[in-house]
Amino acid sequence: MSTVAVLVGSLRKDSFTRKLANAVVSLKAAPLDFEFVEIGILPLYNQDFETDNPPASWVSFRQQISRCDAALFFTPEYNRSVPGCLKNAVDVGSRPYGKSSWEAKPAGVISVSPGAIGGFGANQHLRQSFVFLNMPAMQEPEAYIGNAASLFDAQGNLTDQSTREFLTKFVQSFAAWIEATRKR
Ligand code: FNR
Repeated sequence: MSTVAVLVGSLRKDSFTRKLANAVVSLKAAPLDFEFVEIGILPLYNQDFETDNPPASWVSFRQQISRCDAALFFTPEYNRSVPGCLKNAVDVGSRPYGKSSWEAKPAGVISVSPGAIGGFGANQHLRQSFVFLNMPAMQEPEAYIGNAASLFDAQGNLTDQSTREFLTKFVQSFAAWIEATRKR
């Protein structure tokens, strides 16, 4: 069974993006093992720290990503782009030069917003980085989850049935994508 690193680009407690990530994992739509990788404690990338003794959180983050077979990114949209915490995680994982933890990992993106556009800008900007990182990113289905405030109950459960059905198909497609593209 493939292990999928789950990265969530929001650090706030009541994040819609995190609620959606929790919902996707609990759907159990495909035989995938999901592993949340926390990004909020990673120091901002600074090449000066890239010594024989880099920050411990960078080292464990890189090891965790390397151990996984694929990565699924859940991103809110900040100013039509990727929130800094998530871009920082992408950058930390990509170094030191020539030793990127992301190398050849199949990737998926789900963007989430209370707005109508569903984080399209963030979703596309993240895909731009995947090209440079040599990560095969699943094209279809695209996942722009809009109107996020209306999708959950007071306990944070995803109650919108059509979104549940869409995400089930997304996860099944992603499992097939991993099988088709991951390096063994
Ligand atoms: C936003 N928000 C936002 N929403 C959007 O659809 N497009 C955007 O470009 C932006 N820009 C933006 C910038 C900044 C700095 C903040 C703080 C917020 C609103 C955003 O979608 C909303 O706060 C979400 O609730 C953030 O996601 P989480 O934290 O709920 O997962």
